Amino acid sequence: MVTVSKKNIVLIGFMGVGKTTIGQLVANKVNRAFIDIDQEIEKDLQMTIPEIFKQKGEAFFRKTEKDYIFKMCEQTTGKIISLGGGAFQQEEIRKKCLENCIVLFLDLSWEHWKKRIDLLIETRPILQHRSLAEIKQLYNDRKTIYASHHIKVDTDHQNPEAVVDQIVDKLNL
Ligand code: S3P
Repeated sequence: MVTVSKKNIVLIGFMGVGKTTIGQLVANKVNRAFIDIDQEIEKDLQMTIPEIFKQKGEAFFRKTEKDYIFKMCEQTTGKIISLGGGAFQQEEIRKKCLENCIVLFLDLSWEHWKKRIDLLIETRPILQHRSLAEIKQLYNDRKTIYASHHIKVDTDHQNPEAVVDQIVDKLNL
């Protein structure tokens, strides 16, 4: 049986909250391996996420991310893993991660998040062709989904190092 300390730790949260940056820093700090699911998909398919959405469609991407996350849950332990912000929309992914991993929700308020839109829009197809009101609706819908987690860390007013310290502390890593 896998002990709690050897479980994978999965980072969830809205696009651009810093799942990859924070996940990598936590992994370095506690000497665990880090995996970013989107980066794995991009590397294997030799395509960027916007290219995958454009050429193969969102349904293909969602199926692929589910396959990668299931494989990670079934074949690895003890890693820090960053998921794409839309992965938890899929009930099967939510169930699988909540049962097998420690799910950590990186929260950032809408007021803080919206200042980052310009930096994110080009690489996030989900944000494109949506009005600010529609993006806010998506943010709120996703927030309901991210409510399924084991641990939450607030990132408003905090630099990445402070967030990392909080995570290490809360998880007793
Ligand atoms: C998505 C989030 C992205 C990436 C894809 C779809 C989403 O990941 O998986 O563009 O639906 O929220 P990040 O959360 O790392 O930006």
